[in-house]
Amino acid sequence: MDWQNLLKVAVAVALGVATCTLVALQGHTQNSAGRQLSWEDAVPGVPTWPLVCILGGLTAVAMRWLYKLLFCPLELLRAPEDVGYIAEDGRSKAQAANQVRRRRKTGELPPVYPNGWFRVLDSHLLHRGEVRNASVLGEQVAVFRGHSGEAHVVDAYCPHLGANLAVGGRVLGDCIECPFHGWQFQGSDGKCVRIPYAEKVPEIAKVHRWPSCEVNGLILVWFHCEGKEPEWTVPEQEEIASGKWVYRGRTEHFINAHIQEIPENAADLAHLGHLHTPSITSGVDLRHINSKTWQFLRHDWKVRWEPEPEPNQHCSQMFVRHSLTVFGLRCSLLDVHVVARQVGPGLVFLLFNHAFLGRGLLVHCVTPVEPLLQCVTHTMFYQSNMLPLVPKFILRAESIQFERDVMVWNNKRYVSKPLLVKEDQAIQKHRRWFSQFYSESSPRLKLRRHTLDF
Ligand code: FES
Ligand SMILES: [Fe+2]
Repeated sequence: MDWQNLLKVAVAVALGVATCTLVALQGHTQNSAGRQLSWEDAVPGVPTWPLVCILGGLTAVAMRWLYKLLFCPLELLRAPEDVGYIAEDGRSKAQAANQVRRRRKTGELPPVYPNGWFRVLDSHLLHRGEVRNASVLGEQVAVFRGHSGEAHVVDAYCPHLGANLAVGGRVLGDCIECPFHGWQFQGSDGKCVRIPYAEKVPEIAKVHRWPSCEVNGLILVWFHCEGKEPEWTVPEQEEIASGKWVYRGRTEHFINAHIQEIPENAADLAHLGHLHTPSITSGVDLRHINSKTWQFLRHDWKVRWEPEPEPNQHCSQMFVRHSLTVFGLRCSLLDVHVVARQVGPGLVFLLFNHAFLGRGLLVHCVTPVEPLLQCVTHTMFYQSNMLPLVPKFILRAESIQFERDVMVWNNKRYVSKPLLVKEDQAIQKHRRWFSQFYSESSPRLKLRRHTLDF
């Protein structure tokens, strides 16, 4: 829990105590003559019931907030300009973000869309009969869940006259009906099965269907620049499928960088000892994280990264031991062990294991929205018998550390030939490993400016 949240808890408790005191004063206190005492006796001139109502109302609000904090999933959704930009000279954050994006030097970039599985939506955000619009890999897609319960992903634009199927389209069985003239496309193969005003449906009438799957609470699509079918499957976490581990929250960030910068972080072992060592209590703004106030509290990281051998060459693993030190002393009881398994270019499964705080899975997904704009989500699943506050705290702490990286990524350029020292060698190893996700015809950034302002 960060300090703002701690403060809110303290306020909630204080309000509760104040209300109870008032009620006690009103209802049960009598003076020596047997007359019941009221607030007016305690604070002359202050009327009783309006004050009780106001405090009661405030307490109800605070209790509701406390309930949400303790028991409801964490939802932290950041807008693209929210994190990682320095707004100076009276500019808004959005203006600062757009200026950085306009001025950015991109460097010599690898292709912008690697081949692999990418998250398009969290499963719990799509109910039966619902359709949603999403932006993935520079395309607009319609994601819908048929009445059978199966999720489908198709190109959003109707091949008839271009209406967006996800904006006003209706789900009928396992088909999606266009809002413009009512053509119906089936989710299983994208074929048009009905044109309400035409005698015959042309053979070529179909919408592009994306290979998709639903695993670990996520709806994923397969992208291959040459249209090849999926080359590997996404592993299922048994505890999530069986319901032993349950959803405890999610975060969403948009990052102004090439996709490769984000997974490369796992092999950049040296940055942990610098960027992620200051305590999370010192915040996310890189200009202030080394302030003296919190220097007694530090994070300590022991990390190793390595690719997996065949047949899982599309996977790599990062082994992490995280410790907390107070005045230089390590409290080993609080050590957290994490195995972060990257599966392809867009998915990482972080398995948490703690001596007494239990086990869980944090799913980290990177999906390119545009060539230099990545949507990154973290979705937390944790043992259902553990107090929700524990996984929520882990998720929040992780997002603070992550937002420090975001501030670097949003403002840096990609360096194709970096100046590395011996201790950085895992970075080159990671680049060689990641290059397997590009093909000859993988799309590259051609235009210098390829984006719209936020
Ligand atoms: S645009 Fe979709 S049915 Fe006409
Ligand atoms: Fe990092």
